[in-house]
Amino acid sequence: MKAIEIRNKYLAFFEKNGHKIIPGAPLVPENDPTVLFTTAGMHPLVPYLSGEKHPSGTRLTDYQKCLRTDDIDEVGDPCHLTFFEMLGNWSLGDYFKEEAIRLSFKFLTEELEIPVERLSVTCFEGDQEVPRDTEAAAIWESVGIPKERIYFNGRRENWWGPAGQTGPCGPDTEMFYDTGKPKCSENCNPSCNCGKYVEIWNDVFMQYNKTEDGKYEKLSQRNVDTGLGLERATYLLQGKNNAYETEIFAPIIEFLQNNSEESNIESLRIVAEHMRASIMLICDKVLPSNVEQGYILRRLIRRSIRHLRKIKFNVDKIDSVVESVIDTCKELYPEVIVNHDEILAQVIKEKNRFMNTLVNGEKEFNRVKNRLISESKNVIDGDTLFRLYDTFGFPPEVTKELASENGFEVDMEGFKEKFAKHQELSRAGAEQKFKCGLADNSEETVKYHTVTHLLHRALKDVLGEHVSQKGSNITAERLRFDFSNPAKVEREDLDKVEAIINEKIALGLEVKCEEMSKEAAKQSGAVGLFEDKYGDVVKVYSIGDYSKEICGGPHVDNTSKLGKVKIIKEEAVSSGVRRVKVVFEK
Ligand code: ALA
Repeated sequence: MKAIEIRNKYLAFFEKNGHKIIPGAPLVPENDPTVLFTTAGMHPLVPYLSGEKHPSGTRLTDYQKCLRTDDIDEVGDPCHLTFFEMLGNWSLGDYFKEEAIRLSFKFLTEELEIPVERLSVTCFEGDQEVPRDTEAAAIWESVGIPKERIYFNGRRENWWGPAGQTGPCGPDTEMFYDTGKPKCSENCNPSCNCGKYVEIWNDVFMQYNKTEDGKYEKLSQRNVDTGLGLERATYLLQGKNNAYETEIFAPIIEFLQNNSEESNIESLRIVAEHMRASIMLICDKVLPSNVEQGYILRRLIRRSIRHLRKIKFNVDKIDSVVESVIDTCKELYPEVIVNHDEILAQVIKEKNRFMNTLVNGEKEFNRVKNRLISESKNVIDGDTLFRLYDTFGFPPEVTKELASENGFEVDMEGFKEKFAKHQELSRAGAEQKFKCGLADNSEETVKYHTVTHLLHRALKDVLGEHVSQKGSNITAERLRFDFSNPAKVEREDLDKVEAIINEKIALGLEVKCEEMSKEAAKQSGAVGLFEDKYGDVVKVYSIGDYSKEICGGPHVDNTSKLGKVKIIKEEAVSSGVRRVKVVFEK
């Protein structure tokens, strides 16, 4: 069964069972300052798992593009991917364990036709805070999983979330596929990573909210959150060893093999995986840069280029690699066709930038190498790593890889310290960001969120209707807002924008939320960001008569709750995109 068929069957199955198919969110979360990327299907649904009403109802299903960077250095082995797709179904205070498990079992055995003998499951064994999940185990037994293939584990294995420091979480039950390989020992079980059992699906019973002080309190509703990894399901069902052997990657690997002088499986996988992730990021409007999402994209492209050089592929023909990746991805993600020209242009531009620096950087690296040898050292210190990065454009991860090929280690901590001093957002901070945190819906971030809407409207008023939001990032300390504008915004205009916002705040305008069809929202003149990501029914927030935007919320209910604001910075992000920072006056 091909990946596309698995996805289609999944959505159709859940639709048949009363779920509304909703569009997945972009890879870059909106209004969530604490993570760089969408890392799980539940991520865009956090407010709804916490009790906010979803306009499409209480039973939802979708496919979600995800990107995780924690294991970026492991890519090249058979199983780690940065970009992947998660199929999911949710109950927002609707059904709970019984129906969730029955639906999962039915889908696996009837739709995917997996023989019951191939399935094992794990459940939460319980601890002081949350009881043993005998309920889930009993349901599994009642549907036909024999007792001896139902295992219990602790929090490390059978508890999911929160995705950040705080938020919805709960015990889970995981489904494992038996590949048929022999047991590695008498005690071999699904938690063993010998490769006999592969996790195929996870049903999380999200009943708890982890608070800032580490306590688990009951959520206002009992939810179900599930996640089925598409790439994994595809290779297991096809009886392959990994996703690279399936139609998701195989044509790219084959293309690379046919066009390079040397073949090294790790490099082939890195190029195929990283280029796929890169084109998906470009589809979601990320551009290579030195900060945040753009930096990850830069790292992915540059690492691909290093490996293309390693297998002696002519990197001046990188456009042909891009074509092969687009061609391979287009069935699952038709958006790559729409974005074809932009993807090609961005990759080529980044390749040119990197090639200009690569030759000098490699020369410098060799000088460093000779110096270390003459000093009998084997660690590249933080200052040198930073110089290679800052002056020669070598991401430290590239230096690290090059170093390890030459038998050296790198002082990454030293690099981070040095970097933190030079950048507003330290890499350490960024590193923290992908690992942790969903939006803290704190009072301050909610306030800034409402300011975003006033700012967006006021920028249009002062600069013109061409202004449109390109991104926003909110912390409890400040709001950052990116928007399209061809030139620098002069202080005089910033002052005007600031004055309008403060005037609206002082008026004490009511903030109202209405649900309506996407069509009606458009007709009402609501500003829609990233339009194709919305479902049929959307939420529209209006602030008095001044601003109207399609948005998931949350917001303050009256602008009188906001303090006076100040625009403290204006700068370029990329060509045609400007960034402002706004704070509440203290
Ligand atoms: N949120 C759960 C996961 O990512 C389903 O595994």
